[in-house]
Amino acid sequence: MSFQHKHVLGIEQMTKEDIQIILDTADSFKEINSREIKKVPTLRGKTIINAFFEASTRTRLSFEIAGKRLSADTVNISGSTSSVVKGETLEDTAKNIEAMAPDIIVIRHGHSGAPHYLSERVGCSVVNAGDGAHEHPSQALLDLMTMREHKGSIDGLEVAIVGDITHSRVARSDIYALTRMGAKVRLCGPGTMMPIGIELLGNVEVFTDIREAIEGADVVMMLRIQMERQSNILLPSLREYARFYGLNPTNLKLAKPDAIVMHPGPMNRGVEISSAVADGGQNVILDQVENGVATRMALLYLVSGVESMQTND
Ligand code: CP
Repeated sequence: MSFQHKHVLGIEQMTKEDIQIILDTADSFKEINSREIKKVPTLRGKTIINAFFEASTRTRLSFEIAGKRLSADTVNISGSTSSVVKGETLEDTAKNIEAMAPDIIVIRHGHSGAPHYLSERVGCSVVNAGDGAHEHPSQALLDLMTMREHKGSIDGLEVAIVGDITHSRVARSDIYALTRMGAKVRLCGPGTMMPIGIELLGNVEVFTDIREAIEGADVVMMLRIQMERQSNILLPSLREYARFYGLNPTNLKLAKPDAIVMHPGPMNRGVEISSAVADGGQNVILDQVENGVATRMALLYLVSGVESMQTND
Protein backbone atom coordinates (compact mmCIF):
# COMPACT_ATOMS: atom_id res chain seq x y z
CA MET A 1 0.00 0.00 0.00
CA SER A 2 1.34 3.46 -0.83
CA PHE A 3 -0.08 6.95 -1.11
CA GLN A 4 -0.32 7.86 -4.79
CA HIS A 5 -1.68 11.41 -4.63
CA LYS A 6 0.36 14.49 -5.54
CA HIS A 7 -2.35 16.79 -4.14
CA VAL A 8 -4.84 16.63 -1.27
CA LEU A 9 -7.88 18.41 -2.69
CA GLY A 10 -10.62 16.54 -0.83
CA ILE A 11 -11.64 13.29 0.82
CA GLU A 12 -13.99 12.56 -2.10
CA GLN A 13 -11.00 11.44 -4.20
CA MET A 14 -9.56 9.21 -1.45
CA THR A 15 -9.97 5.47 -0.99
CA LYS A 16 -10.31 3.69 2.34
CA GLU A 17 -6.65 2.64 1.95
CA ASP A 18 -5.54 6.26 1.43
CA ILE A 19 -7.31 7.30 4.64
CA GLN A 20 -5.80 4.34 6.49
CA ILE A 21 -2.27 5.29 5.34
CA ILE A 22 -2.76 8.92 6.44
CA LEU A 23 -4.09 7.92 9.88
CA ASP A 24 -1.30 5.38 10.44
CA THR A 25 1.34 7.90 9.34
CA ALA A 26 -0.16 10.55 11.66
CA ASP A 27 -0.02 8.06 14.55
CA SER A 28 3.70 7.54 13.85
CA PHE A 29 4.40 11.28 13.77
CA LYS A 30 2.40 12.10 16.91
CA GLU A 31 5.13 11.06 19.33
CA ILE A 32 7.51 13.71 17.89
CA ASN A 33 5.20 16.41 19.26
CA SER A 34 5.87 15.35 22.86
CA ARG A 35 9.68 15.23 22.53
CA GLU A 36 11.87 17.90 24.09
CA ILE A 37 13.32 18.69 20.65
CA LYS A 38 10.26 18.58 18.40
CA LYS A 39 12.02 18.46 15.06
CA VAL A 40 13.01 15.78 12.55
CA PRO A 41 14.80 16.21 9.21
CA THR A 42 12.11 14.58 7.02
CA LEU A 43 11.36 17.62 4.82
CA ARG A 44 14.71 19.43 5.07
CA GLY A 45 15.24 21.56 1.95
CA LYS A 46 11.53 21.68 1.06
CA THR A 47 9.62 24.96 0.89
CA ILE A 48 5.97 25.14 1.97
CA ILE A 49 3.78 28.20 1.33
CA ASN A 50 0.73 28.53 3.57
CA ALA A 51 -1.64 30.78 1.59
CA PHE A 52 -4.66 31.61 3.72
CA PHE A 53 -7.20 33.86 2.00
CA GLU A 54 -9.75 33.27 4.79
CA ALA A 55 -9.41 33.60 8.56
CA SER A 56 -7.97 30.65 10.49
CA THR A 57 -6.39 29.93 13.87
CA ARG A 58 -6.13 26.14 14.17
CA THR A 59 -5.52 25.10 10.56
CA ARG A 60 -2.97 27.78 9.67
CA LEU A 61 -1.01 27.38 12.90
CA SER A 62 -0.96 23.60 12.77
CA PHE A 63 0.11 23.46 9.11
CA GLU A 64 2.91 25.89 9.95
CA ILE A 65 3.96 23.96 13.05
CA ALA A 66 3.74 20.66 11.12
CA GLY A 67 6.04 21.99 8.38
CA LYS A 68 8.55 23.38 10.88
CA ARG A 69 8.63 20.14 12.91
CA LEU A 70 9.50 18.31 9.69
CA SER A 71 12.32 20.88 9.06
CA ALA A 72 10.71 22.42 5.96
CA ASP A 73 11.01 26.15 5.30
CA THR A 74 7.49 27.50 5.81
CA VAL A 75 6.28 30.87 4.56
CA ASN A 76 2.84 32.37 5.22
CA ILE A 77 0.75 34.74 3.14
CA SER A 78 -2.74 35.88 4.03
CA GLY A 79 -5.50 37.49 1.98
CA SER A 80 -5.33 40.80 3.81
CA THR A 81 -1.53 41.17 3.48
CA SER A 82 -1.18 39.85 -0.09
CA SER A 83 -1.62 41.63 -3.41
CA VAL A 84 -5.12 40.12 -3.65
CA VAL A 85 -6.30 43.31 -1.89
CA LYS A 86 -4.88 45.27 -4.86
CA GLY A 87 -6.98 43.25 -7.30
CA GLU A 88 -4.58 40.43 -8.30
CA THR A 89 -6.38 37.29 -9.53
CA LEU A 90 -5.83 33.84 -8.03
CA GLU A 91 -4.28 32.76 -11.35
CA ASP A 92 -1.69 35.57 -11.25
CA THR A 93 -1.00 34.96 -7.57
CA ALA A 94 -0.51 31.27 -8.43
CA LYS A 95 1.94 32.02 -11.27
CA ASN A 96 3.98 34.32 -9.04
CA ILE A 97 4.10 31.79 -6.21
CA GLU A 98 5.08 29.11 -8.74
CA ALA A 99 8.00 31.28 -9.95
CA MET A 100 9.51 31.03 -6.45
CA ALA A 101 9.64 27.21 -6.75
CA PRO A 102 7.81 25.99 -3.64
CA ASP A 103 7.35 22.25 -3.08
CA ILE A 104 3.91 22.45 -1.46
CA ILE A 105 1.21 25.13 -1.37
CA VAL A 106 -1.34 24.83 1.42
CA ILE A 107 -4.37 26.95 0.51
CA ARG A 108 -7.50 28.10 2.31
CA HIS A 109 -9.91 30.05 0.13
CA GLY A 110 -13.51 31.25 0.30
CA HIS A 111 -14.33 29.83 -3.13
CA SER A 112 -15.13 26.14 -3.51
CA GLY A 113 -12.72 24.62 -6.04
CA ALA A 114 -9.90 27.18 -5.56
CA PRO A 115 -7.34 24.47 -4.54
CA HIS A 116 -8.32 22.38 -7.60
CA TYR A 117 -7.94 25.46 -9.85
CA LEU A 118 -4.52 26.14 -8.35
CA SER A 119 -3.40 22.51 -8.73
CA GLU A 120 -3.95 22.78 -12.50
CA ARG A 121 -1.74 25.87 -12.73
CA VAL A 122 1.28 25.05 -10.56
CA GLY A 123 3.86 22.28 -10.71
CA CYS A 124 4.05 21.63 -6.97
CA SER A 125 1.71 19.79 -4.62
CA VAL A 126 -1.43 21.58 -3.42
CA VAL A 127 -3.12 20.82 -0.10
CA ASN A 128 -6.66 22.06 0.55
CA ALA A 129 -6.94 23.74 3.97
CA GLY A 130 -10.66 24.48 3.45
CA ASP A 131 -12.39 25.79 0.30
CA GLY A 132 -15.73 27.58 0.64
CA ALA A 133 -18.50 25.19 1.65
CA HIS A 134 -16.85 22.35 -0.30
CA GLU A 135 -14.23 20.35 1.69
CA HIS A 136 -11.85 20.56 4.64
CA PRO A 137 -9.95 17.28 4.27
CA SER A 138 -7.30 17.74 6.97
CA GLN A 139 -10.04 18.51 9.52
CA ALA A 140 -11.90 15.29 8.69
CA LEU A 141 -8.69 13.29 8.94
CA LEU A 142 -7.81 14.70 12.36
CA ASP A 143 -11.40 14.03 13.44
CA LEU A 144 -11.04 10.37 12.42
CA MET A 145 -7.65 10.12 14.14
CA THR A 146 -9.27 11.40 17.35
CA MET A 147 -12.25 9.03 17.07
CA ARG A 148 -9.93 6.09 16.44
CA GLU A 149 -7.82 7.00 19.49
CA HIS A 150 -10.86 7.16 21.76
CA LYS A 151 -13.00 4.39 20.26
CA GLY A 152 -10.40 1.96 18.85
CA SER A 153 -11.96 1.80 15.39
CA ILE A 154 -14.13 3.88 13.06
CA ASP A 155 -16.00 0.89 11.63
CA GLY A 156 -19.52 0.63 13.09
CA LEU A 157 -19.44 3.92 15.01
CA GLU A 158 -22.68 5.93 15.18
CA VAL A 159 -21.64 9.53 14.57
CA ALA A 160 -24.11 12.41 14.93
CA ILE A 161 -23.12 15.66 13.19
CA VAL A 162 -25.35 18.56 14.27
CA GLY A 163 -25.56 22.10 12.91
CA ASP A 164 -25.36 24.07 9.68
CA ILE A 165 -24.76 21.12 7.35
CA THR A 166 -25.42 23.10 4.16
CA HIS A 167 -22.53 25.51 4.62
CA SER A 168 -20.12 23.18 6.40
CA ARG A 169 -17.06 21.94 4.50
CA VAL A 170 -16.18 19.99 7.67
CA ALA A 171 -19.46 18.06 7.49
CA ARG A 172 -18.94 17.21 3.82
CA SER A 173 -15.37 15.91 4.32
CA ASP A 174 -16.38 14.04 7.49
CA ILE A 175 -19.30 12.36 5.70
CA TYR A 176 -16.99 11.10 2.93
CA ALA A 177 -14.30 9.95 5.38
CA LEU A 178 -16.59 8.35 7.98
CA THR A 179 -18.80 6.44 5.55
CA ARG A 180 -15.74 5.20 3.64
CA MET A 181 -14.34 3.84 6.93
CA GLY A 182 -17.60 2.08 7.86
CA ALA A 183 -19.22 4.54 10.30
CA LYS A 184 -22.92 5.39 10.24
CA VAL A 185 -23.53 9.13 10.01
CA ARG A 186 -26.58 10.93 11.38
CA LEU A 187 -26.98 14.51 10.21
CA CYS A 188 -29.13 16.96 12.15
CA GLY A 189 -30.07 20.59 11.74
CA PRO A 190 -32.94 22.87 10.82
CA GLY A 191 -34.45 22.12 7.42
CA THR A 192 -33.07 25.47 6.17
CA MET A 193 -29.52 24.24 6.88
CA MET A 194 -29.84 20.73 5.43
CA PRO A 195 -29.01 20.36 1.71
CA ILE A 196 -31.50 18.40 -0.38
CA GLY A 197 -30.09 15.02 -1.44
CA ILE A 198 -27.31 14.93 1.22
CA GLU A 199 -28.28 11.27 1.89
CA LEU A 200 -26.81 10.41 -1.52
CA LEU A 201 -23.29 11.04 -0.18
CA GLY A 202 -23.25 7.66 1.60
CA ASN A 203 -24.54 5.82 4.66
CA VAL A 204 -26.26 8.93 6.04
CA GLU A 205 -29.54 9.47 7.93
CA VAL A 206 -31.14 12.90 8.27
CA PHE A 207 -32.86 14.22 11.42
CA THR A 208 -34.42 17.52 12.39
CA ASP A 209 -34.76 16.65 16.11
CA ILE A 210 -31.43 16.69 17.96
CA ARG A 211 -32.73 14.26 20.59
CA GLU A 212 -33.41 11.59 17.96
CA ALA A 213 -30.09 12.29 16.24
CA ILE A 214 -27.91 11.86 19.31
CA GLU A 215 -29.79 8.99 20.97
CA GLY A 216 -27.32 6.10 21.38
CA ALA A 217 -24.56 7.91 19.44
CA ASP A 218 -20.87 7.10 20.03
CA VAL A 219 -19.74 10.50 18.82
CA VAL A 220 -21.57 13.84 18.86
CA MET A 221 -19.96 16.46 16.62
CA MET A 222 -21.30 20.00 16.89
CA LEU A 223 -20.84 22.57 14.11
CA ARG A 224 -21.09 26.32 14.27
CA ILE A 225 -23.56 28.27 12.12
CA GLN A 226 -21.57 29.62 9.17
CA MET A 227 -23.08 33.14 9.12
CA GLU A 228 -20.41 34.29 6.65
CA ARG A 229 -21.69 31.85 3.98
CA GLN A 230 -25.43 32.47 4.41
CA SER A 231 -27.07 34.86 1.95
CA ASN A 232 -30.54 34.65 3.61
CA ILE A 233 -31.62 34.58 7.24
CA LEU A 234 -32.02 30.85 7.94
CA LEU A 235 -33.06 30.91 11.60
CA PRO A 236 -35.39 33.03 13.75
CA SER A 237 -32.77 33.81 16.44
CA LEU A 238 -29.62 32.37 17.99
CA ARG A 239 -31.54 31.93 21.25
CA GLU A 240 -34.11 29.73 19.50
CA TYR A 241 -31.37 27.83 17.67
CA ALA A 242 -29.62 27.11 20.99
CA ARG A 243 -32.90 25.85 22.44
CA PHE A 244 -33.63 23.39 19.63
CA TYR A 245 -30.16 22.49 18.31
CA GLY A 246 -27.71 23.28 21.10
CA LEU A 247 -25.90 20.48 22.94
CA ASN A 248 -26.32 20.72 26.70
CA PRO A 249 -25.83 18.33 29.64
CA THR A 250 -29.51 17.24 29.47
CA ASN A 251 -29.71 16.17 25.84
CA LEU A 252 -26.14 14.77 25.88
CA LYS A 253 -27.43 12.12 28.33
CA LEU A 254 -29.30 10.57 25.35
CA ALA A 255 -26.01 9.60 23.69
CA LYS A 256 -24.09 6.52 24.88
CA PRO A 257 -22.64 7.06 28.39
CA ASP A 258 -19.11 6.90 26.94
CA ALA A 259 -19.90 9.10 23.92
CA ILE A 260 -17.31 11.72 23.00
CA VAL A 261 -18.14 15.32 22.10
CA MET A 262 -16.26 16.95 19.21
CA HIS A 263 -16.18 20.40 17.62
CA PRO A 264 -13.86 21.58 14.84
CA GLY A 265 -13.78 25.12 16.25
CA PRO A 266 -14.21 27.98 16.45
CA MET A 267 -16.99 27.34 18.99
CA ASN A 268 -19.86 29.67 19.72
CA ARG A 269 -20.47 28.88 23.38
CA GLY A 270 -24.11 29.15 24.36
CA VAL A 271 -25.25 28.68 20.75
CA GLU A 272 -24.43 25.20 19.35
CA ILE A 273 -22.73 24.01 22.55
CA SER A 274 -23.11 24.96 26.21
CA SER A 275 -19.99 25.76 28.20
CA ALA A 276 -20.82 22.89 30.57
CA VAL A 277 -20.48 20.44 27.65
CA ALA A 278 -17.59 22.23 25.92
CA ASP A 279 -15.53 22.00 29.12
CA GLY A 280 -17.08 18.75 30.39
CA GLY A 281 -15.58 15.30 30.79
CA GLN A 282 -16.83 13.93 27.46
CA ASN A 283 -15.25 16.65 25.29
CA VAL A 284 -12.20 15.76 23.18
CA ILE A 285 -11.99 19.14 21.45
CA LEU A 286 -8.38 19.91 22.35
CA ASP A 287 -7.38 16.34 21.45
CA GLN A 288 -8.65 17.22 17.95
CA VAL A 289 -6.37 20.27 17.92
CA GLU A 290 -3.40 18.23 19.16
CA ASN A 291 -4.01 15.58 16.48
CA GLY A 292 -4.25 18.33 13.86
CA VAL A 293 -0.48 18.81 13.98
CA ALA A 294 0.29 15.08 13.52
CA THR A 295 -2.31 14.76 10.74
CA ARG A 296 -0.86 17.72 8.86
CA MET A 297 2.68 16.38 9.30
CA ALA A 298 1.43 13.14 7.71
CA LEU A 299 -0.19 14.98 4.77
CA LEU A 300 2.88 17.15 4.08
CA TYR A 301 5.15 14.10 4.24
CA LEU A 302 2.94 11.93 2.02
CA VAL A 303 2.45 14.50 -0.77
CA SER A 304 6.14 15.43 -0.73
CA GLY A 305 7.07 11.98 -2.04
CA VAL A 306 10.20 11.73 0.15
CA GLU A 307 11.23 8.13 0.76
CA SER A 308 11.64 7.98 4.53
CA MET A 309 9.89 9.48 7.55
CA GLN A 310 13.29 9.98 9.33
CA THR A 311 11.71 10.29 12.73
CA ASN A 312 15.15 10.47 14.45
CA ASP A 313 16.80 13.88 14.73
N1 CP B 1 -11.35 23.96 12.32
C1 CP B 1 -10.88 25.02 11.65
O1 CP B 1 -10.79 25.01 10.41
O2 CP B 1 -10.51 26.07 12.44
P1 CP B 1 -9.81 27.39 11.90
O3 CP B 1 -10.82 28.13 11.07
O4 CP B 1 -9.38 28.15 13.11
O5 CP B 1 -8.64 26.99 11.04
